[in-house]
Formats: sequence, structure tokens, C-alpha cells
Amino acid sequence: MKNIGVLISGGGTNLQALIDKQGTVLKSGRIVCVCSNSASAYGLTRAEKAGIATKVIRKNADCGGDNEEFNRRICEYMKEMRVDVIVLAGFLAILGGKLLEEYADRIVNIHPSLIPSFCGDGFYGLKVHKAALDYGVRVTGATAHLVNEITDGGKILLQKAVYIEDGDTPEILQKRVMEQAEWIILPQAVEMVCKGEV
Ligand code: GAR
Repeated sequence: MKNIGVLISGGGTNLQALIDKQGTVLKSGRIVCVCSNSASAYGLTRAEKAGIATKVIRKNADCGGDNEEFNRRICEYMKEMRVDVIVLAGFLAILGGKLLEEYADRIVNIHPSLIPSFCGDGFYGLKVHKAALDYGVRVTGATAHLVNEITDGGKILLQKAVYIEDGDTPEILQKRVMEQAEWIILPQAVEMVCKGEV
């Protein structure tokens, strides 16, 4: 059984999907801690309700805006909690340095588009769905992938397509992509990595 550490920044619905799928889809790992870069992230409450340890590490308030120190502190906490696999579940900061080295091929991210469309620096959250609607694509989706030094550039683990419908707004589309793709493929991809299939 692998120890999973989840990094979040906001609502934490993907974290909730992981919590809910423990023991069924997610059988080879268990969530031991949740770390947020925002003290007001609702995902922290979700973790507490599930009895999971939480920690807040903020780049500006706790690390003086130093990205290296921010990454070092996250890495230190993951090791303290004996984390084997890290999941970025709506974590909207960029990881780098030592953390990527130490956890190479053991960090999974969920991105709300079909990579390589609408991804890379600056594409996160609602901006991704706005870009898809502005472009006029009729199909979008989500991608679960490994994390490396290139933003959204690591090995693709799973993807699931979602149709765009007339009248979609970024908010409506975001919800459909979460329900029909993200919450399904993220627990499956984390299971693949915990099981050693990747
Ligand atoms: C999700 O849609 C996730 O795919 C996206 O942020 C949202 C977080 O929601 N992540 C990115 O855009 C990363 N580039 P959640 O906090 O409810 O899971």
C-alpha cells in the first residue's frame, strides 16, 4: 500500500473524488496528507472531515516569495509524512527543483483539457475552458499525466473526451468536464501509479 500526498489550491472536488474512491478504484494507495498553498482552500475542510492530516504552505506568506524554498518545504512535508506518490488535484502553483527530482515519475496531475490542447503556462482552471470555447472546439476533456519540468508536458496516463454543448459557458463546461472526466480518470491514474503499472 502506497502513501499518497495530495496538493491542492482550492475547492478540492478532485481530492473528494480520490477520498470517495479509496478502497474501490483506488486500492493500492491511501491518502495520508493534504497540503494547500492557500489557507482558505475548501479542500482543507474536505480533508479534515475525512480525518486526513493537513498543512498550509504559502509561497509568499511562508517562504518570502522564494519558489525554491516553497518547493523545499513541500518536499520536506511529503517526506515527513512518508509520501510515496504525490497528486496535484487543482494545485495551481508550479513545482520545480528538488521535489521533481525526488519524486520523478511519482507525481500525477489532472488537467482540464485534452493535452496538448489548451495547456502549458497560464492555462489553469476556468481559463482553460474559456480558451476551448473561444477557439470553438466541439470536443474537450481532461488529462491525467505525470509531472516533469515542462508544464503539462509529462507522460500522459489517461484522457477522457467531453462534448461541448450549445450555450456552454466556462463555468458550465468546467462542471461537465469534472463530472464526466476528471473525477473518473484521476483516481484511475493514481491507482496505476500506486500499483506500479507506469
Ligand atoms: C480542476 O478543474 C483541475 O483540473 C484544474 O483546477 C480545477 C480544480 O478544481 N487544474 C488545472 O487547471 C491545473 N492546470 P478542484 O479544486 O475542485 O479539484
